[in-house]
Amino acid sequence: MTAAALSTTFTLDANGADPITIKRLGFGAMRITGPGIWGDPANLDDAREVLRRCVELGVDFIDTADSYGPEVSERLIREALHPYTDVLIATKGGLTRQGPDQWAAVGRPEYLRQCVHMSLRRLDVERIDLWQLHRIDPAVPADEQFGVVADMVAEGLIRHVGLSEVSVSDVVAAQEYLNVVSVQNLYNVANRQSEQLLEHCEKDGIGFIPWFPLGNRELVADDGALAPIASRLGCTPAQVALAWLLQHAEVMLPIPGTGSIAHLDDNCGGATVSLDLEAIAVLNDLA
Ligand SMILES: NC(=O)c1ccc[n+]([C@@H]2O[C@H](COP(=O)([O-])OP(=O)(O)OC[C@H]3O[C@@H](n4cnc5c(N)ncnc54)[C@H](OP(=O)(O)O)[C@@H]3O)[C@@H](O)[C@H]2O)c1
Repeated sequence: MTAAALSTTFTLDANGADPITIKRLGFGAMRITGPGIWGDPANLDDAREVLRRCVELGVDFIDTADSYGPEVSERLIREALHPYTDVLIATKGGLTRQGPDQWAAVGRPEYLRQCVHMSLRRLDVERIDLWQLHRIDPAVPADEQFGVVADMVAEGLIRHVGLSEVSVSDVVAAQEYLNVVSVQNLYNVANRQSEQLLEHCEKDGIGFIPWFPLGNRELVADDGALAPIASRLGCTPAQVALAWLLQHAEVMLPIPGTGSIAHLDDNCGGATVSLDLEAIAVLNDLA
């Protein structure tokens, strides 16, 4: 059994009509694009190889978005993995791109509908298993954004809905229209600004997908804050960061992202690391 296969599972929509069980350690496919998440990666074959290796390692949950590239990440996923046997592809829409590292939310209903249709086409599926509203656009009434997503669920274009970068009150407002099965917010051992949302997710059984799960490069560097624990436990700093997330909450679904096979292998090993009480105490105090 591979490292990722050892990670425990979580069921999205556990109490609903259409549950999906995934392994808790997934993969984020944002880093398989060019610099600034813009354009093609330096080596397309390597990017496709990373995706195939993910699945070989037992990862069955891959996160992407129409805006990664834009279009590049979804296209590479189709080229490498279609028809997605035993792997859940979660995508997002609602962010537009103007250049490297530039992102702007557009939540007009007709645009969100276009996002979903284009993702369906690029991923070559008839229904998106998990579609996430990348941002709630503050310039458009939230009800209109939730409403059109609910329509697309009813029409069978979307199976399950997630939200991204939201507050507890956003989730509660969306739940008037939608069955929200996951949220995706910035969160890692050193940045717990979304702890309140995490607690809400635990209470309601909503999957919590922490983006930037490894934090900045210093955090997981060989001489960074996690290095002493890693050295004592015989693992790497990145594995410590991921193991802490997995042990911190049962709804936690980390999606570490990388364009490198070596880092992918390292990250999947995070599912096998068991932190002792001493390590957890130190890590809990880090934020
Ligand atoms: N919802 C949102 O608004 C949002 C925003 C950002 C990201 N996301 C999603 O979340 C996923 C993860 O976020 P992220 O990629 O920003 O952060 P991350 O997974 O924490 O990765 C951060 C950086 O760490 C490096 N890295 C990966 N594995 C490593 C390892 N084992 N050792 C040392 N360095 C390592 C990566 O670069 P290398 O390529 O060099 O390995 C990457 O640049 C993305 O892929 C995307 O799917 C969502």
